[in-house]
Amino acid sequence: MTSAEQAWSGVDAYLVDEVVGEDDVLAAARARGRERGLPPIDVAPNQGAFLALVAQLAGARRVLELGTLAGYSTIWLARAVGTAGHVTTVERDPRHAEVARENLDEAGVGERVRIEVGAALDVLAGLADAGTEPYDLVFVDADKANMPAYLELALRLTRSGSVIVGDNVVRRGAVVDPSDQSPDVAGVRAFLHELGTDPRLEATVLQTVGSKGWDGFAIARVR
Ligand code: SAH
Ligand code: DHB
Ligand code: MG
Repeated sequence: MTSAEQAWSGVDAYLVDEVVGEDDVLAAARARGRERGLPPIDVAPNQGAFLALVAQLAGARRVLELGTLAGYSTIWLARAVGTAGHVTTVERDPRHAEVARENLDEAGVGERVRIEVGAALDVLAGLADAGTEPYDLVFVDADKANMPAYLELALRLTRSGSVIVGDNVVRRGAVVDPSDQSPDVAGVRAFLHELGTDPRLEATVLQTVGSKGWDGFAIARVR
């Protein structure tokens, strides 16, 4: 870690301690992900709380998440929708889905979360073709190369007033590095271009620094 990254992490620890108060259940969910060898790329606690607040501000009852990992962000979202709400979360890796199922059940929110195991493109196309009731909030946090396709599908799965949040859209500034032509960064750029130009959306992007380094969240409202 650079000294800047150390400072950002220190401030995040302070903010989480002072304001957010990650509880034992969430800490255990994160820890189980590490014990089972899943990558440490869950949202930070203050980011999870941000997602939960967005869900509550939007009055979200139906949430769709792409990229479950160990279910850490899923727990935040499931808590936010309350006992009458529902979260559908999509995960390609069955090992991740298994850890997430344990974490969600342990957190007492298992009954309101369905984990769809499969590639998000296939699962979303299936949901759209099935004429699923619109989602109030979509959190896009799976592979970055497919982000523009996820946005297009999310628009088929939402209604006017729904919220779409995208994670990891700054990527240590790679998004403006012309030498970076990786599929992930190209996907993020196309996603952002679409957010800025699609008349069906109003959107902004906030850069973030903290325990996850330098990155950013996109947030959009469906017109
Ligand atoms: N939202 C989680 C972190 C997700 S990490 C949290 O904040 O706690 C990204 C996850 O997306 C990984 O578990 C990875 O296996 C999954 N993933 C990657 N490509 C995918 C795809 N095409 N379809 C569905 N899931 C995918
Ligand atoms: C990565 C993916 C994420 O969703 C994230 O929040 C951080 C890093 C990654 O694939 O490296
Ligand atoms: Mg992410």
